[in-house]
Amino acid sequence: MSKIKDYALSDRGRLAYVWAKDHMRILTHSISLLAKSKPLKGITLGVCLQITKETSVLLVGAKELGAKVVACSGNPLTTQDDIAAFLVSKGIEVFAWSGQTKSEHDWCQNKVLSYKPDIITDDGGDLNTKAHFDRKFRLLKIIGGTEETTTGINRYLAMQNKGKLRYPIIAVNNAKTKTLFDNKYGTGQSTIDGYLRAMNLLFASKRTVVCGYGYLGKGVAQKCAGMGSKVIVTEVDPIKALEAHMDGFYVMPMSQAAKIGDIFITCTGMTDVIQKQHLLSMKNGAIVGNVGHFDVEIDSKFLLNQTVRQVRPNLDECILPNGKKIYLVSKGRVANLIASEGHPPEVMALSFSNQLYSILYVLKNHKKMKNLIYDVPKQIDNQVATDALNSMSVKIDRLSKKQIAYQENW
Ligand SMILES: NC(=O)c1ccc[n+]([C@@H]2O[C@H](COP(=O)([O-])OP(=O)(O)OC[C@H]3O[C@@H](n4cnc5c(N)ncnc54)[C@H](O)[C@@H]3O)[C@@H](O)[C@H]2O)c1
Repeated sequence: MSKIKDYALSDRGRLAYVWAKDHMRILTHSISLLAKSKPLKGITLGVCLQITKETSVLLVGAKELGAKVVACSGNPLTTQDDIAAFLVSKGIEVFAWSGQTKSEHDWCQNKVLSYKPDIITDDGGDLNTKAHFDRKFRLLKIIGGTEETTTGINRYLAMQNKGKLRYPIIAVNNAKTKTLFDNKYGTGQSTIDGYLRAMNLLFASKRTVVCGYGYLGKGVAQKCAGMGSKVIVTEVDPIKALEAHMDGFYVMPMSQAAKIGDIFITCTGMTDVIQKQHLLSMKNGAIVGNVGHFDVEIDSKFLLNQTVRQVRPNLDECILPNGKKIYLVSKGRVANLIASEGHPPEVMALSFSNQLYSILYVLKNHKKMKNLIYDVPKQIDNQVATDALNSMSVKIDRLSKKQIAYQENW
């Protein structure tokens, strides 16, 4: 029996679902081609994804393909309650609502695992790690998993290195048609959207500090520059730092950037990126927020322990002992999902097509797979790119026989 905030929101959720579905044609087309054969019949799919309108297209699709779907949210604050209500109306079990406490969030994950899923589709690794290490769930017979984000994969890599993985997991995040578009363009746009809704101030003329120049950082830096900001990048990887420098951004350590930045956006997946001493050295009025997976990048605990006043939805004013006011977006949690609605549907159609094909791949191939992390097969990645190009009516050239022969000749 599901637990959500308000079942009456289902009609509003349906509208949002239809809007997303209409802009995720490559995913819905694949679902309609497979629907007759019901390839997921008899399978329970345990899901821990952000409960957004785009996710609802994947989950309703999985149900149409025959799966029993049980879902919780990848984050305590990000659930869109109308979508949760709509999903329940479609026969999906949902344990998610906005504004959960940590223990409520944990309870919801336990509920999903109590349905004994065959396959787990995760975002950040909470459900898969719980299935591995929580004694209550160690006897579950899970045949495999799929993972949506960089942080989840980093956690499984640590488990794999210690020989602790108990079933194969497909790193959906690492598909080119995921990271190059979702992490870069999706987060780039939705971060601007989230910050704008939270602060409604100009990006133009401001010094915006982007921490991390990986897939997310590149997208966020590009979009902030497009909005007229003077972008500063902080990094720990010399190659990424050089790339940022060559791309035309200022590069410097956080201790320096902290003193001159107006807006800060952490995009690293790492802990302790903006520390107490950085916060104390910031200019009065600086705005800080995070779009990495967990709320560990900024010392939000220190900020939220000061004199705090909520000045706008998703924006807290924190008065530091030195008298300066620092503004924290979405309590240091994924700002693009909390202050905004997350990635646009067109980009999620790419990510979730990879998810769907990877779930089907696990189902078909799990007996041959080892307890390791697998990349999304290249064929799937290319198929998703081809489908996306076709949906946008973009045509490309094909190698001629002569060109193939040239390529194969040493
Ligand atoms: N908010 C979203 O919608 C969303 C979407 C996709 C991924 N994510 C999450 O965002 C995070 C980043 O993902 P990614 O794909 O860009 O990862 P990535 O590995 O490509 O990039 C992270 C970058 O941060 C740098 N870094 C690490 N520690 C640092 C530090 N102390 N200071 C400065 N830079 C540092 C790394 O060198 C790397 O270049 C992950 O937690 C991922 O799960 C969030």
